[in-house]
Amino acid sequence: MPDSVSFRFSPAVRAMTAQAQLSSAGLPEDLHLGEPVTDATHAEFVQLLDAAARADDAGFLAAMDEWIDHTRHHFAQEEAWMEAMGFGPRHCHAGEHQQVLAVAAAVRDKVAQDNALELGRRLVAELSGWFDHHVRSMDAMMVGHMRENGFSLIEAPA
Ligand SMILES: [Fe+2]
Ligand SMILES: [Fe+2]
Repeated sequence: MPDSVSFRFSPAVRAMTAQAQLSSAGLPEDLHLGEPVTDATHAEFVQLLDAAARADDAGFLAAMDEWIDHTRHHFAQEEAWMEAMGFGPRHCHAGEHQQVLAVAAAVRDKVAQDNALELGRRLVAELSGWFDHHVRSMDAMMVGHMRENGFSLIEAPA
């Protein structure tokens, strides 16, 4: 079993800064798990979700798409780590990811096709509660497993 697993900065973060850096700024203190890549990715999740909540009607779909792109990367990365570590409950964890992405994609299409902004805004509002719970349960277990087994994350070549 490998004792290190690789990570990549999300394309969104790479595009924003030439030299991406890990920062957990903006992540509520009680959601910090103490693993820098995870905390930075979660800070971005919160930032992008907040940007979608604050977007005006004309900018809402683009903001939602940005959050969806980032979230696909975030979830795929965690799933790859869990696979690499042979982490037992990985399928249950990945199942939560897939459910959220499926709902988000369906709502996104309703916003794009039928201008269902109210539905889109309701989803964005509800996602923050889902995320709190997911981080404290699923992601906390994943990070605990990394810590207990001495796994560290190393940046993969771009
Ligand atoms: Fe996560
Ligand atoms: Fe997760």
